[in-house]
Amino acid sequence: MLELKNLGKFYSDQKILENLNLSIEPGEIFCILGPSGAGKSTLLNIVAGIIDSYDGNVVNDAKRIGYVFQEDRLLPWMNVEDNIKIVNDALTSQEISHLLIEMELVKDKNKMPHELSGGMRQRVAIARAFAYKPDLLLLDEPFKSLDYSLKSKMIDALLRLWNETEITVLFVTHDMDEALWTADRIALLAKHPKGLLDIFSIENPRALSSEDVIRHKNSIKTYWEESI
Ligand SMILES: Nc1ncnc2c1ncn2[C@@H]1O[C@H](COP(=O)(O)OP(=O)(O)OP(=O)(O)O)[C@@H](O)[C@H]1O
Ligand SMILES: [Mg+2]
Repeated sequence: MLELKNLGKFYSDQKILENLNLSIEPGEIFCILGPSGAGKSTLLNIVAGIIDSYDGNVVNDAKRIGYVFQEDRLLPWMNVEDNIKIVNDALTSQEISHLLIEMELVKDKNKMPHELSGGMRQRVAIARAFAYKPDLLLLDEPFKSLDYSLKSKMIDALLRLWNETEITVLFVTHDMDEALWTADRIALLAKHPKGLLDIFSIENPRALSSEDVIRHKNSIKTYWEESI
């Protein structure tokens, strides 16, 4: 469904990505975990077609790509509900309500973006991405402005929406917990020249016990520390 073949990217003479190969299966949640500057947003922008000058190939049969950008990019002159509706004329009022409920925005649906907190804005951006009914969803640090308890609620909501839709999700984060709670597979991406270090398959995705999470975290951490 989505394949990156020998992907490379320069900004001027700075090499960001080199010979990156990834194959993302239909319907999976594939997480890219990596530090600031590793090229995660660059990679998503290439997949989204926003960056069109790069080396290698992107094979993508998704017809509709939804994108939750690292910054929320809401339209400042529209209220919450209209910001969600704007991407899909065919959305029913029931579908809009469902998204507002899942993202805990019902009470705020008439507010303007400047009246929202960072976390609320981010939730509108997630609702808007699902409103578009994508078959591939790109998520760039979607939970970064949320406190722990809201983050875990929103992750549950994301997983419910994903279950309903069976879309493919490419999820970028630098938070190992977020990756372990959501992903089928986790790719560790270090800054160039290390690049892609490894890909971990989670044997029991989205149903990890706290012991499993600790075990995975320790093995990823050890691997990470030995590799960079
Ligand atoms: N438009 C641009 N022009 C020049 N350099 C850029 C541009 N966009 C990104 N870069 C550089 O490319 C590198 C990777 O940036 P990118 O935003 O992809 O990283 P990231 O992994 O998403 O980081 P973060 O976790 O901080 O969001 C950085 O060194 C950044 O300075
Ligand atoms: Mg980024």
